[in-house]
Amino acid sequence: MTRIEKQKERISNGVEKIVSLAKRRGFVFPSSEIYGGFGSCYDFGPLGVEMKNNIKKAWWDEMTKKHDDIVGLDASILMSPKVWKASGHLTAGFADELVECRKCHHRFRKDFIKEKCPDCGGNLTKPKKFNLMMKTFIGPVEDEASVTYLRAETCQGIYTNFKNVIQTMRMKIPFGIAQIGKAFRNEINPKDFIYRTREFEQMEMQWFCEPKKADKFFDYWLKQRLNWYLSLGIRKQNLRAKEVPKNELPHYAKRANDIEYKFPFGWQEIEGIHNRGDWDLSNHSKYSGQDLKYEGSFPHIIETSVGVDRSLFAFLCDSYTEVKGGRTKTTKSAKEIEILLKLDKSLAPIKIAVLPLVKNKLELVKKAKQVYKLLKPNFVCQYDETGSIGRRYRRQDEIGTLFCVTIDFDSLKKDDVTIRDRDTMKQKRVKIKDLPRLEIFDF
Ligand code: GAP
Repeated sequence: MTRIEKQKERISNGVEKIVSLAKRRGFVFPSSEIYGGFGSCYDFGPLGVEMKNNIKKAWWDEMTKKHDDIVGLDASILMSPKVWKASGHLTAGFADELVECRKCHHRFRKDFIKEKCPDCGGNLTKPKKFNLMMKTFIGPVEDEASVTYLRAETCQGIYTNFKNVIQTMRMKIPFGIAQIGKAFRNEINPKDFIYRTREFEQMEMQWFCEPKKADKFFDYWLKQRLNWYLSLGIRKQNLRAKEVPKNELPHYAKRANDIEYKFPFGWQEIEGIHNRGDWDLSNHSKYSGQDLKYEGSFPHIIETSVGVDRSLFAFLCDSYTEVKGGRTKTTKSAKEIEILLKLDKSLAPIKIAVLPLVKNKLELVKKAKQVYKLLKPNFVCQYDETGSIGRRYRRQDEIGTLFCVTIDFDSLKKDDVTIRDRDTMKQKRVKIKDLPRLEIFDF
């Protein structure tokens, strides 16, 4: 079985349609596909990267524009290994329990399986701890002294820069530091497409506050984060917060809530809200010998931590709609299932598609290309002339394009176009010269 086949097998029931759409339409490709794939890593295609950038922008604006007193940071992925010793990630706290099949020697995360090997039914070994940090070497010598790690969470760079940010930006608690970046975990059983991978991207915000106000801020940030998903179109019935039981808390947390999304394969965490107390600043003070106190004591930290990939997956699942019999009753497609991706305006990868009514009329194509050029500086656009116009509308609906701008024979005489709205399919005619005005696209 190739890696790609294994990867496909690991994808649980119910998401095949999303996975197929993501591959077919350029959202997500398996990494190193021409070599049979690689270790549950994925590449984001032309539409995936646009959507990912839109999610990151929505989060960054939410944190740094909507809220006062949050500044940004972009710390390096490679850090001193001492950071990971101090943070507790090199000990049992950041390890999953692994079992191995005595017969086929496949390895599994203990909490993902029952008594027997799911691959061959063989007996399993006793569980042992498996650390998730990804090891590498820094510099030309590969010995113990040059071992370091790819970061397993982005927030550690925030703690090591706590004093730098306070000093350079004159911050006073309560304040936050936001960061977006890659993180790596040597997951034993990556699964469910881009849900659990070994390389992923996090959007984390660390809120530094007085210890006595930590509970209040925990509730505040939990509510803010739930509202963020709702404001971006996630349906209320598919979103919930779940208190993490004390015996399941991450090693750094005093309290945690998972924000969960109802994926086709069940309720799963997409974001963690953590009260980290003074765990990080006090440990980094101890291990580095630097005083990381603020006015004589350690502030407490409320953290919001979401995966870009996981949230993208949730946004795709939530917006995926099948219309049996099709929406366009006038065309042949009426008997088929039409797919509509009802992505929020800010998240849709393509905002406008420019379509000449037919491609074998040179004047139409020429005009359509002029319109495309006019719109491209302001909107992410796609030019499409292949296939019937009905087919092209459906292709755009399937990737969530907000508007289709069609150039027909009247356009040649009147210098205007029709704009079609994705959700209502309503159309209106507007002058070409008015197209760069945003409000033209308000239906
Ligand atoms: N700094 C805290 C922290 O990293 P976490 O609950 O381990 O907390 C936060 O991770 C978020 O990062 C998760 O809710 C998820 O969205 C994302 N994440 C974690 N591990 C992941 C993985 N293996 N693949 C994809 N996303 C992951």
